[in-house]
Amino acid sequence: MRAHPAGPRHGEILAPAGAPPPPADAEALHALTEGVWPIGARRSDGGGLTPRSVSIAGVDVRDLAAEFGTPLFVLDEADFRSRAAAFRAAYDDTQVPGDVFYAGKAFLSATVARWVEQEGLNLDVCTGGELLTAVRAGFPAERIAFHGNNKSVAEIELALRHGVGRYVLDSFEEIARLAAAAERAGVVADVLVRVTVGVEAHTHEFIATAHEDQKFGLSLAGGAAEEAVRRIVKLPSLRLVGLHSHIGSQIFDTAGFEVSAHRLVALAARVRDEHGLEVDELDLGGGMGIAYLEDEDPMSPRDMAELLRGIVVRECAAYGLAVPRIAVEPGRAIVGPSMVTVYEVGTVKPVDLGSGHTRHYVSVDGGMSDNIRTALYDAEYTVRLVSRFSAADPVLSRVVGSHCESGDIVVRDCWLPGDLAPGDLLAVAATGAYCRAMSSNYNAVPRPAVVAVRDGSTQVVLRRETPEDLLALDAGLTP
Ligand code: LLP
Repeated sequence: MRAHPAGPRHGEILAPAGAPPPPADAEALHALTEGVWPIGARRSDGGGLTPRSVSIAGVDVRDLAAEFGTPLFVLDEADFRSRAAAFRAAYDDTQVPGDVFYAGKAFLSATVARWVEQEGLNLDVCTGGELLTAVRAGFPAERIAFHGNNKSVAEIELALRHGVGRYVLDSFEEIARLAAAAERAGVVADVLVRVTVGVEAHTHEFIATAHEDQKFGLSLAGGAAEEAVRRIVKLPSLRLVGLHSHIGSQIFDTAGFEVSAHRLVALAARVRDEHGLEVDELDLGGGMGIAYLEDEDPMSPRDMAELLRGIVVRECAAYGLAVPRIAVEPGRAIVGPSMVTVYEVGTVKPVDLGSGHTRHYVSVDGGMSDNIRTALYDAEYTVRLVSRFSAADPVLSRVVGSHCESGDIVVRDCWLPGDLAPGDLLAVAATGAYCRAMSSNYNAVPRPAVVAVRDGSTQVVLRRETPEDLLALDAGLTP
């Protein structure tokens, strides 16, 4: 079991030998590698006159920090739209038509929901809150898929009232709950069964067996998925449109998707044999990996789509099935690299690691409340000094937050210029997915704003919370 970063592991300070190698030169220490950083991120060449700060979509980070404060999530609209469009194009195939559902859990706001709609994508929501955000933004409900492993009656009724397009059902209770609610509403709801295919994949490895021991889905091996289909086909207020599987997160190795597609097609064939019903759609879920670090090399949406189509076509031919539509649900792969977090440095504390090595603890004005991923998953990030260029030698550094907890680490091991000082701005790349979305008010810290940038102009996507916003919830304080 992994030790909590605030616990035993904290005492065992990483030897410099285990840290990433130092950058080759000052340019490498300041590089904004394509794929890790948004397409609009540029460092000015300076010409010896400016501090060579970074701009995103033509807006200098120093101006963003001055106008909107820090920490600040900066969202490159063109980057987001181009990733969404690339997914749309990758699944726009005349032989095997496909649909892309943007997974709103990664990051959702009304503005983003509108971009998703304009780029021709559908939307995956997994709570009533995400659903309300989308419908209030004017997102067409028929293009929404409602996920989640414990949809309440109230959430189901909300979805039915708005005419949500499809429901991905995760338990026998949900089947009964949705069927009853749809009947009361006098409608027939389109549903997919979330199948636990026995594959779990994350980043570089995948395991295909025995991943039944988790809360999501209806087991294929245990027969629950087939039993779910049996129940659904008997219910006049439900219509089975497809089978769904989601195998994990931050996946680079496509083998897991292949096994999953193989198993879903085999199940579709059994459904056809037992019920005389061919499903319209196979949804292979999300989880496509992104580059958090410079040496990570994710597969392009187009290559991935071709691979998935190939597998589904082959497998369907083997069973004599008509090829269904393919759906995917990327969240991270669309919004992740589009956003960076800008922090202001508050303190720099050199800590002697012994054997002649020093680590700089660089405290920034945010932390685990705006990025819990490092503490929760040992996530790794790329960080840069963005308010200026420094010729100082790099020092092994750790970017930490302002929370009262030693596990409050934003970037565990990185190299930063040795002359970093209070007031400098740092940016952490690829924080678009699951950072603002998983943010908290720990230590009564208001959550940061999200500002979109495009062609030199800015648009507030989510305003910064204020201390008054938080105090307003405290019933013990009189207004
Ligand atoms: N579809 C389903 C059914 C999912 O459960 C998820 C993610 C997605 C799509 C989107 O996955 P993506 O393409 O964004 O990887 N908080 C974790 C990730 C949790 C993902 C949960 N489900 C993290 O920060 O890495």
